[in-house]
Amino acid sequence: MKLRVNPVPRLRGEATLPGDKSITHRALLLGAIAEGASRVEGFQSGGDCQATLGCLQALGVLIERPGPGELLIHGKGLRGWREPVNVLNCVRSGTTMRLLAGLLVGQPFYSVLTGDAQLLRRPMDRVADPLRAMGAHIWGREGGRFPPLSIQGGALHGAEHRLNVASAQVKSCLLLAGLYAEGETTVIEPGPSRDHTERMLKARGVAVRTEGLRHTLQGPAERLNAVETIVPGDFSSASYFIVGAMLVPDSRVLLKNVNINPTRTGLLDALAAMGGSVQMANRRDTGGEPVADLLIESQPLRAASIGGDLVPRMIDEFPILALAATQAEGVTRVRDAAELRVKESDRIATIVSALRALGAHIEPYDDGFDIEGPTPLVGTTVECYGDHRLAMTLAIAGLIASGQTTIQGSECIADSFPGFQECLLTLTEGAAL
Ligand code: S3P
Repeated sequence: MKLRVNPVPRLRGEATLPGDKSITHRALLLGAIAEGASRVEGFQSGGDCQATLGCLQALGVLIERPGPGELLIHGKGLRGWREPVNVLNCVRSGTTMRLLAGLLVGQPFYSVLTGDAQLLRRPMDRVADPLRAMGAHIWGREGGRFPPLSIQGGALHGAEHRLNVASAQVKSCLLLAGLYAEGETTVIEPGPSRDHTERMLKARGVAVRTEGLRHTLQGPAERLNAVETIVPGDFSSASYFIVGAMLVPDSRVLLKNVNINPTRTGLLDALAAMGGSVQMANRRDTGGEPVADLLIESQPLRAASIGGDLVPRMIDEFPILALAATQAEGVTRVRDAAELRVKESDRIATIVSALRALGAHIEPYDDGFDIEGPTPLVGTTVECYGDHRLAMTLAIAGLIASGQTTIQGSECIADSFPGFQECLLTLTEGAAL
């Protein structure tokens, strides 16, 4: 599919983003091992979360849709899943594969996790190795480095894991396995990754102790309580319109009900260092997560240096940050971000190639990139490498580039942001598409 985007004079109006992807995955997985029925309101229906839903159904979990945006998950308890008759298809969702692996190693049956070519290239040794240290039987291609993963569930024991990368997927996988393990499971992160799993386990009655970057739980867990989850709007989806409104002149956009969990909003700190400000109104707490309405207006940006602990707090926002940097005065440097190489695409390579095609001055490094701005962008036909976050970044680039920008392979946007085009049309008063 091709998405053709035209330059627009302004972004105006308000929008509500789809539900948070990370929280939806966790609401599904935790609901499926809880006792009784868990209601989820505002769940995200994109391809990645659908993959989790499909896998859980294949594990014998009944999931109903009582109304629009609503799910009712009939939990089977910690050990009530049934052995799937076929391989479990995680499609393109790394979160599905890594978090589900943590639960499947504790089940008394055999299962196989697979997915699309894109997912088959992503590293799984980061979960397979520490799970083996807990006694798990898990195999993958190249000694467990790549999917498909095959798992023979069984007895686990707790362990202390010191992670090399700040990854919420790895942390969550190991804490979930810890629910089934005898003794204490501890995960020590090198930096602050998103903390939805810890929050949601606590809300379901599991005592997770967090001291700085160290997270501990005592296994085996007896039960998880079924609770209702109200899923807030996804900050990562909001990020495209935050940057879009800053870059397109004469803009004023209100994004409603956005999750502002500080482990997710590193982009706001990066933009603040670049001189960009976002106003927050109506701050509140929804289902254990901080939420606010965000007001963004056009504003000039200057270059900044981004690295260290900020990186995991904005790990999915580097494509859109890179676009902002093309319009900022000076050289923006991103470092300590080698993780970008193992996302849906090698995001250092694909950001460089896509933004260069539009005329940006960008140089790759092993663990980041330098971008010199401001540079006028010129619309052309550009590839998004099956990466939803790059595709949406290019759509926002199309709003400020001269001429038309054609994004090839834009169907991947539906992996995380169903309704992106409608939102783009609303906020551009129909001018973008
Ligand atoms: C996610 C964690 C992040 C992020 C991904 C979703 C999650 O991955 O990139 O889109 O829901 O836990 P890592 O934790 O591996 O960095």
